[in-house]
Formats: sequence, structure tokens, C-alpha cells
Amino acid sequence: MSTPEHETRIYPPPEAIARQAHVSGMDAYRQLCDEAERDYQGYWARLAREFVTWRQPFTQVLDESQAPFFKWFEDGTLNVSYNCLDLNVERGLGDKTAIVFETDDGQVSRHTYRQLLERTCQLANALREAGVKKGDRVVIYMPMSVEGVLAMQACARIGATHSVVFGGFSAQSLRDRIEDAGAVAVITADEQLRGGKQLPLKAIVDEALSLGGCDSVRQVLVYRRTGGNVNFDPARDRWLHDAMAAQPTQCEPEWVGAEHPLFLLYTSGSTGKPKGVQHASGGYLLHAALTTKWTFDLRPDDIFWCTADIGWVTGHTYITYGPLANGATQVVFEGVPTYPDAGRFWRMIQDHKVTIFYTAPTAIRSLIKAAEVNPAADPRNYDLTSLRVLGSVGEPINPAAWEWYHQNVGGGRCPIVDTFWQTETGGHMITPLPGATPLVPGSCSLPFPGIMAAVVDETGKEVPWGQGGILVVKKPWPSMIRTIYGDPERFKKSYYPADFQGKYYLAGDGAVRDAKTGYFTITGRIDDVLNVSGHRMGTMEIESALVSHTELVAEAAVVGRPDDTTGEAVCAFVVLKRPRPEGEEAKRIAKELREWVGKEIGPIAKPKDIRFGDNLPKTRSGKIMRRLLRAIAKGEAITQDTSTLENPAILEQLSQTN
Ligand code: PRX
Repeated sequence: MSTPEHETRIYPPPEAIARQAHVSGMDAYRQLCDEAERDYQGYWARLAREFVTWRQPFTQVLDESQAPFFKWFEDGTLNVSYNCLDLNVERGLGDKTAIVFETDDGQVSRHTYRQLLERTCQLANALREAGVKKGDRVVIYMPMSVEGVLAMQACARIGATHSVVFGGFSAQSLRDRIEDAGAVAVITADEQLRGGKQLPLKAIVDEALSLGGCDSVRQVLVYRRTGGNVNFDPARDRWLHDAMAAQPTQCEPEWVGAEHPLFLLYTSGSTGKPKGVQHASGGYLLHAALTTKWTFDLRPDDIFWCTADIGWVTGHTYITYGPLANGATQVVFEGVPTYPDAGRFWRMIQDHKVTIFYTAPTAIRSLIKAAEVNPAADPRNYDLTSLRVLGSVGEPINPAAWEWYHQNVGGGRCPIVDTFWQTETGGHMITPLPGATPLVPGSCSLPFPGIMAAVVDETGKEVPWGQGGILVVKKPWPSMIRTIYGDPERFKKSYYPADFQGKYYLAGDGAVRDAKTGYFTITGRIDDVLNVSGHRMGTMEIESALVSHTELVAEAAVVGRPDDTTGEAVCAFVVLKRPRPEGEEAKRIAKELREWVGKEIGPIAKPKDIRFGDNLPKTRSGKIMRRLLRAIAKGEAITQDTSTLENPAILEQLSQTN
């Protein structure tokens, strides 16, 4: 899709934005980087005082004594919900719209900061009444809704640690997360409504709890979204509106230490089951507030819209926490970009006069296709002149999609911030700043001021610009992952491996810096993690799901292959316990296995492509040769050396699609 010509074009920041930006021009950007370079702790301490209101000010900045278990601002105390809600009301923004909510079927409601505060307090009181205490874990399995945001804020208010599970995960995945977190309560809804379709969230919670291992759960609070039928266990279940109705609209915040765990968010790694990434309160809030302001050049009259789901980290940082901590007005959307038609995003930007729009490349790519065939889906048929800044997140944006987004959505006037970051980093790590950074399509450009990103070789030595390598962060930063819940050893092994003497944070991505400008381009994961439509998945998880179908499957190997729309697609190679199927039978079994993976993990993990073989390509010592499988999945001719292969004939067989 890309051409070299695209890749070399440079877009300087528009004059009008640069002039008044929070970070205005490259000199200002460099000054901030220099400040961090000169006095790292002083830099972050200055920002922590500016962006966070502390109950008790911190006196220590960074504690490295138990590295890599770093601590930031440890003796400071704060409450994150106080910072996001009360403070704005105290500053006179009580009547300002915090959230413009649009439902799947197009109904719009507005919610002021005062209303959010009062309802958060009621929900927080309801949680306290249910016995939820500081440090308890609460699982949130909710649709995109104001209530979803309130549930997170209410947990923060009482010092409970939330763990949001994306509504697309199956009962089994939900169960695993509830068990691992030892959650005492679950907050859910009767049903989720997306693209005109209902998904029975409460029934999935019931199923998850019935699978066992969830005895820690004492209460399930149910938000009534659709009024659909649900089973109710009076000893355990309670309607959210009933639980909130009798509660006072004030709730004294629980003042917590800066390192108190604000949330867990489960994400995939290259091995084993999903890991509960644990974030702290103070440092996370700082980076959420700071990056929302600088990366999007947020101003008081902006209408900000991040299209992510609160089930992912983007929804945490750039819906629930960052915009509210800045007193911004934001759009929250229940539905999907293609319902009732693929012009939904553009119509909503027009209707709500959105000024900052933040979405994923996968959405852009699918909307490009839709616009080619349907005028209602063509952004040029909408008034998008309100837009000022565009953002991209979750996966690499290919230059052709970047150009289309820039031209047709941004009218050629809006900078695109291609933000590289991860669940573990809490907020943006490498990103342009709209009023400072000249943009190069396909490059996430330069580190956020204070983030010490570098590209190194296997020994931890920095490679020259122009040469690819491993992306690392050389110094701890405030919003970084604190540990993997319940598994500190895995935390150390995954992120601070001995290869770099435990000194550098390993992102798990490859990167290359431009030979002239030093701009970063992310070249993709260097581990067995896939990125499908911006959703992160481990190949091992999908393999485990497949082989757990013990009746059918003997062995499975999963790899990713490039996909024009979803970025990567899941491709599974399966050996059955019966003779290799062909024709209709192969199709039927592939469908059954797809459904099975959907049930085990969630629909997002369903393999797009399933190939059957009598065996898998293995070395004589029995190791599966994944690089060959990757080549086969891509449809490439095998040019690699296959002499170490036990069974070369298998390659031909696996090349056949069903
Ligand atoms: O591979 C990188 C890719 O997404 C991974 C992180 O996924 P997750 O934790 O789910 O967080 C997604 C939202 C922040 C990274 O390791 N990734 C994320 N943003 C970009 C990206 N790859 C290229 N460019 C980006 N802007």
C-alpha cells in the first residue's frame, strides 16, 4: 500500500497550532528533553506538582532501591477520582459537560462534572455498603457507557483496584481473570448493545462464576442497559440503580499512597496465560493527565473523542482518566464505526463538533474500503472542519492509510499523532506533539519528553541510526507497570531480562531510527504476540485453546500473517486426532474449531485461516519451525534452508488452504 514517495514526505506543524501549543516548536520540545536529561527526578517532580493535586505532598521522587520494582512519589498521598471530578467542580467546572454520550442507536445525553461526581459518589458508597474495601479487586465487565466510567472512578474513590475485562472476552476468559485477581465484586450490565446486536453480559458473568474458582466474588452489581431478561440470584446480584438510589451523593475519598494499585489490566504475553499488569495511582495519573494535554494539545474548549473501549488500556488512560483529569469535554460512544453505516464516525464528528479524534489504524483501513463503495461512508461528504488534531494508536499505521486520514478526515490541516505505547507503559511513550514535531507518515517520531527510549542490540548496546534493533526504555518512568499481579518473577523476566543486566525496560517490539532524523519506526513485535485489529493476543493462548479441544486436536501452532484490514490475522496449523480432513469436512471442522476458540477466549481470537496437516514442520529434535509456518501463512515460497527439517514434505501439504 505504501510508496517510498509517501514515506519521505514531511509535514511541518501547522502555524496556527504551533503558535499557541502547550509545547510550541521543536526548540520547546528539546528544552523539555534537556531538562529531563539534566535533572531526571526534578523534571518529573515538577510535572507531578503541576498535574496532580496531592493530599499530602511527596518528598521522595524515584526510589530505585528495589529495582526493577520502582516506586514514584511514594510518600505522597492522593485520590485519583478526587483529581478527576471534585477538583473540576471546585475549580468552577461543575456545570461543564464532561461526557457527551451517544448510544448505539444514536441517542445523545450530556453529563456534567457535578453529575459525574455525584453518581460516582453514590456508586462508591454502594460498593462500600457491599463490603468492598481499600485494596480489594473489583472486576468490571461493562459495555461502553457512562456507568462503565463511573464504575472505574468509584473504585478509585474507595481505593479498590479495578480490573476491567473487555466485553468481547468469553466466560472462560472472564473466569480466569476473576480468579487470578481474586475479585470480591463484579460490576456488569444486563446486555451490551453494539451494531444493533445484543450481547448478554450478565449471562456470561453467571456462566463465568459457575465455572468455579470464583468464590471470592460476594456481589454482582448489574447496570440495566437494555432491560433484557436476566437471571437473578438475590443472595449475590443487585441492580446498580437500586444499590445507588439510596446512597448519598457525597463520599469521602480514600486517600491512598502514590504507589497504591489503581488497576490491573490483563494482557497477553508470549508465554502462558494473560498477565495482570498492575499500575500505581500517582505516577499513572500524572502521565495520563500530562500526555492527554501535550500529545493532543488539549485546550479547555476542545471536544475530545477517543474511540477505544474502556476494556483496553487506551480507554483507561484516554477516556476514564486523562480527559477528566484535565477537565475536558469528551464524547463516549457505545457502538461500532460501521453501524448503521460506515459514515458513523464522520457523522458523529460533525454532530458533536469534535476537535480531537483518536482512533486505531484498523478502523481507518476498514473505513477507507467502505468509503470507496459508499458515498455515505466518505468523510469528504461530512463537515469535519471542527477537527484540529488526529491521533492513531495500537498498531503501526501504514503510510497510505496515514495519507488518507490526513487528507480526507483532517482536510490536510490536522497533525496526526501516531502514538506508540503499551498496556504496560500506562501512556504515550513515542509520539509526535502536534505543535512541535514535523510528521513523517508511518513513524511515531520521537520520545515523549522524559521518556528515554533507545534501540539496542542483543547485548544492550545502542545500534547506530538506520540499523534495526530492540526497543528499550533506559530509565524508569512514572506510569510504568509496577508488577504482574501475583507473579513478580514473571514481571522481572518479561520486562527486565538478564540480557540487558536487568537495566532496561524491554518493550517487546523491534524498532529502527531514521538515519538522518533519528525518528523511530516500530517494526513489530519481537515475541510471539500478535496484533489483530489493535487487539493484542499471544499465539500460545490460541494454541492452548485449540489443543484444549481434546476430542479433535492433537497439536496446533499459531502464527500471524499480514492482513490489509486487521494489520495481522491469526493463522492456525492443526494436526487432528483423526486423518487429515479435506473438502467439506475440512471446512466443517475448521468452523467448529473457530467457534471453539471464540468460546475459550473470545471472538477476537478466532483464527481467520486454519490449515490441517498430518504433522507440523519440525526439526529432528522436535521443535516446531515457526518461521516456516509464517512463510507458509503469508503464501511465500519457501526459500529458507529446510535441511534440518524432519519431514520436508509437510510444507507442501500445509500450503493448501481450505
Ligand atoms: O506492538 C506495539 C503495538 O501494540 C503493542 C501494545 O499493545 P497493547 O498493550 O494492547 O496497547 C495498545 C494500545 C496502546 C505494542 O507493543 N503498538 C501500539 N501502538 C503502536 C504500536 N505499534 C506501532 N505503532 C503504534 N503507534
